[in-house]
Order: sequence, then structure tokens, then C-alpha cells
Amino acid sequence: MKNSMWGGRFAAGPDALMEDINASIDFDKRLYAQDIAGSKAHAAMLAATGIIPQDDAERIAAGLDTIQAEIESGSFEFSRKLEDIHMNIEARLAELIGPAAGRLHTARSRNDQVATDFRLYIRDRLDELSDQVGDLMRALAEKAVAHADTLMPGFTHMQTAQPVTFGHHCLAYVEMFARDRSRMTDARARMNESPLGAAALAGTSFPIDREMSAKALGFARPMRNSLDAVSDRDFALESLAAASISAVHLSRLAEEIVIWATSPFGFARLSDSFSTGSSIMPQKRNPDAAELVRSKAGRIIGALQALLVVMKGLPLAYSKDMQEDKEPVFDALPSLSLALAAMAGMVRDLEPNRQAMAAAAGQGYSTATDLADWLVRVLGMPFREAHHVTGAIVALAEQAGAALDELPLSSLQDVEPRITEDVFSVLSAGNSAASRTSFGGTAPKLVRRAAEDWLKALDKS
Ligand code: ARG
Repeated sequence: MKNSMWGGRFAAGPDALMEDINASIDFDKRLYAQDIAGSKAHAAMLAATGIIPQDDAERIAAGLDTIQAEIESGSFEFSRKLEDIHMNIEARLAELIGPAAGRLHTARSRNDQVATDFRLYIRDRLDELSDQVGDLMRALAEKAVAHADTLMPGFTHMQTAQPVTFGHHCLAYVEMFARDRSRMTDARARMNESPLGAAALAGTSFPIDREMSAKALGFARPMRNSLDAVSDRDFALESLAAASISAVHLSRLAEEIVIWATSPFGFARLSDSFSTGSSIMPQKRNPDAAELVRSKAGRIIGALQALLVVMKGLPLAYSKDMQEDKEPVFDALPSLSLALAAMAGMVRDLEPNRQAMAAAAGQGYSTATDLADWLVRVLGMPFREAHHVTGAIVALAEQAGAALDELPLSSLQDVEPRITEDVFSVLSAGNSAASRTSFGGTAPKLVRRAAEDWLKALDKS
């Protein structure tokens, strides 16, 4: 069957097709503010260096301000015939101020222009994302303070392993997000150099001042090599890599929230704000927001893959392939922003069920390691032997259908006669967690201190 939309387009001939494949205005219009800022900095530099007359530079700046207002009020007419945001703005500038507009593109090419715009855009996004990660860290650290001694089972292989505290679990994510944040900070610092003035690829014969335009745009310095300046997109890749790792962290936390909210677990209740009901099953409370955060990792990692593959094997310097750098970034970074905001909201609203968590923390022989450690510490048994004795006691408890701390002392002594009443002091989940006082351990007093330290550090950042 003929697809009327595309069929019609193909029938329209090569001009229409070329416009379809070539035009980027539909997505790069998002760079209008960066493009205007870059042009203003360039025009001011051209005037300061005597390359264009000062009054032309002033006309250019005023015209660009008008264009920015037009775009922001929605009255600007974008044209696909003009390909991209750079030509759309320049054409409108010519309409507004006449021949002076033609001086703006002196000593510049769209190649250094687009690289500049894109760096400015990503730099802004990284700054916002970093703030948002900080907000999520704060939400988690606040939960950790409130739940420094809330017991929950810690898992390995998704099997009950040892009791931990919910606060400790929250702080594990704070650590991950702190590293995500520092990856964003690193990426920002590395990308904060100006490509402007690299021109098409070789630099220019005009006496430009690249330091000046770089400084005006908040860049630390101009990029050292004009070929590199127009042809690498590693700053976008690095930002997408940082975003992907953060999305993976978010996805893992989201998955845990989904699990905690199931009725067999019942560890936490999701707020109405971040769940939905079912149209058919009245009892349902679906963790939609957590599921969507979990899934955002797919498109964010996809964006990184897409751009890696676009860049792979491209000869220096610019090729039009690089126009394909934008859509993945325009999708991925705002997606991460949304996921971070939703996760911070979910974490703030999350109500852990202390009873259910504590009960589960004591199940599954979660204190078996504590028993083995007691045998080592008090009886001087080698750990391997203690492990074996504990295994026999766990088997006994399984037969009796009892928890370890529910077995009578006499049963424990049947396996190892030297065991005394004192062993019961380590068999409860609470005592187990409280005894984990090694650096970085789950003991409530360490968790409380770590959470408070994080909150103080976040206040300063
Ligand atoms: N729209 C183009 C891009 O996004 C701008 C650069 C065009 N440069 C060129 N030599 N055709 O990459």
C-alpha cells in the first residue's frame, strides 16, 4: 500500500528529498539561544579587532536581540529551505538590518559555529543535571537520616544475605550519584574550550582574537587546534557516557522500588503522586513512574551508541554525518533530567514499612554469619570450621521450621557443646546490623553520621 505522506514526498522529486535529508532546523532550532550568544560574541570580537566597523557590530547585536525575542514569542518563521538554525537566523538578520548582516560571518564558518553552539548547549544541560543529581542525593541522604536504624535484609544473588539498614542502602545510592555528579563536572571542565575562530577547519587569515570570544562565552580558553575544534564530538560522547551511567544507577534504584512496592515484599508504599491505578483491577497501585525511570536507560544508552557509531571512522575534519550528533543528545539529556526529577520525588514520598522490612531482615537465616563469627571470636574456632558448624545449625533450624534465635540453647549445644547463652546476643537482626562497625559498614551509628556528613557537604556544594 502506498504511504500517502512519504509517497507524496518522494513523488515531489529530488529537491524535496534533499531538503528532507539535509535540513536540521526541525531539531537544531533548540540551539537558537546559544547560536545568538555565539554570534554576539563573534561580532563584538570582530569590531574590537577592527575587522568590522563598530556600528555594524551594534546593529548586528540589536538585530540578534530582536530575533531572540521573536523566537521566544513564537512569531519567528523557521524555514526548512534555510536548512539549519544558523542560516535561519542569519537570513532574518539580513531582513532586519540589511547589508551589515553580511559581515557577521567574517572569519567564521558554520563548522566552528555549530561546534560552539553545541558545546554551550551541553554545558548548560550538564550544569542543570549536576544540580538535579545533587537534589536527588539530598533526598536520599534525608531518608538515610530518618532510617539510619530501619532494618532490612541485604541481598546477594537476590537471596537474603545479612541484615542491613535502609539508611545504609540509601547512602549506597548517594555514593553512586556523587560519582555521577563528578563525572559531569569532569566532562564540563574538559569540554569548556572554545572552537569559535577555527573557521571551516584551518583557522583564518583575519586578525581575530579567539581569547576574547572564548571569554565572552564563558569558555576557559580557545581550543588549540582548528581541525580538532571543528571535528571532534567527544564532549557529546562523554556527556552521554556520564548520562548513561547515571541512567543505569537510576534504573537499578527504580527496579528496587518496583520490587519493594510489590505485595509479597511490602517494604514500601508509593505515593499516589507517583503511581497509577488499573482500569480493571481496583486493588492495583502500579509503580509507573519507577518503571519509566527504569526504562529511560534504554534510550539514553541508545543515544550514546548512536553517536559512537556515527563518529567512528569519520576522517578529519567536518562531515555532514556530524549533523546527526544532535538528536541523540536532545533526547537523552532531557530524558535524564526528567528521570532525575521523578526519582527525587519518588524518594521523598517513599514510605518504608519498618515492620515488614525488619521482619524480613530476620528471616532467611540472615544472621548465620554472625553465628559463625561468634564461634570464631568466642571459641577461637577457625572460620572454615565455624562455617561448617553454622551450616549444621541452619539445617537444624530448617528442620524445626524456626529462626536461628528461636532454637533452644540445647539444640545449638547438640551441634557444638561449647556454645553458651551469650550467642543469642548476636543472633537478632538488630544486633547483627549494630555490630557492623567496620569503616563503611551498616551499623546505624555509622549510617547516621555518614548521612549527616553528606547533608552538610551538599549544603556547601
Ligand atoms: N547543520 C550543520 C550541522 O549540524 C551545520 C554545519 C554545516 N556545515 C557544513 N559544512 N555544511 O552540522
